[in-house]
Amino acid sequence: METPHRPHGPARFAAFAPVPELDTVAYDRLAREVRGLLGIDLTQYKPAQVWRRVNGFATARGLPDPDALVAKARHDSVLRQAFLDMLTINVSEFFRNPEAWQMLADRYLKPMLHNQLMVRIWSAGCSLGYEPFTLAMLSREIAPTVTVRILATDLDDTTLSRARNATYTEAQMAGVSEARRAHFFRRDGDKWEVKPELAAMVTFRRHDLLKDACDKAFDVICCRNVVIYFTEPAKADLYTRFCDSLRPGGVLFLGATESIPNVRQLGLEPAGLTFYKRPG
Ligand SMILES: C[S@@+](CC[C@H](N)C(=O)[O-])C[C@H]1O[C@@H](n2cnc3c(N)ncnc32)[C@H](O)[C@@H]1O
Repeated sequence: METPHRPHGPARFAAFAPVPELDTVAYDRLAREVRGLLGIDLTQYKPAQVWRRVNGFATARGLPDPDALVAKARHDSVLRQAFLDMLTINVSEFFRNPEAWQMLADRYLKPMLHNQLMVRIWSAGCSLGYEPFTLAMLSREIAPTVTVRILATDLDDTTLSRARNATYTEAQMAGVSEARRAHFFRRDGDKWEVKPELAAMVTFRRHDLLKDACDKAFDVICCRNVVIYFTEPAKADLYTRFCDSLRPGGVLFLGATESIPNVRQLGLEPAGLTFYKRPG
């Protein structure tokens, strides 16, 4: 029988360490430091969740508190990147929640791709590129020749440069069928590379959803599993801007556990599962 994995060193204690109460003075200090160090505006994230995660992250690295974490991260670029990854949680995969992708394809992409000369899609918070390349694969399967432009943006430069590489390990390819691998990827040793024709459909760009201006006239905006730690006002502001960035009739596609309360006040209407539509 396999021995269950047990973390070693400080990480072993992190799971059992009590979570400290939110200290608002220390949190404000953390927010100031993180803005300077990582360029992230924590005032628009839910403080209790961020505080819990930052403390857990510090404890797991044998550091007593967020102040010590920030002090070390200033001089330790590996820790700084891990800190950024933890705050932005770039977990993702191809065809994440397949039934939702099927609905996007059948109900929305098909009519767009069959009736328009060009379709514009934005993958906002694209992580390592799984989402924009999922969009590219679905679009090509529906309409092999229609022009499809996919803008893929993320806050994290390191994540973006890995996404631009468009190369994935066997484990990262879990959601991709054999047929899709054969059609859209090229095998290179133990890695899988997105074929240039598919890669050419996607433009990667750095963009902070909390402060940067958004492009306009998208047919589809995917923003999935990105805003979970944003405050409610920050989310409402973002969704209003998304509505403005969609063309009339365009569709906003959220993550499986996300929804928009009072969606009509923001100018959108519910359109099944986690889809919202800008009225046409
Ligand atoms: C959990 S991943 C989601 C990836 C993909 N959308 C999915 O659902 O599989 C969240 C991504 O959002 C990005 N992110 C977090 N805050 C952001 C912000 N303010 N602006 C843009 N991207 C952000 C992170 O860097 C990360 O790559």
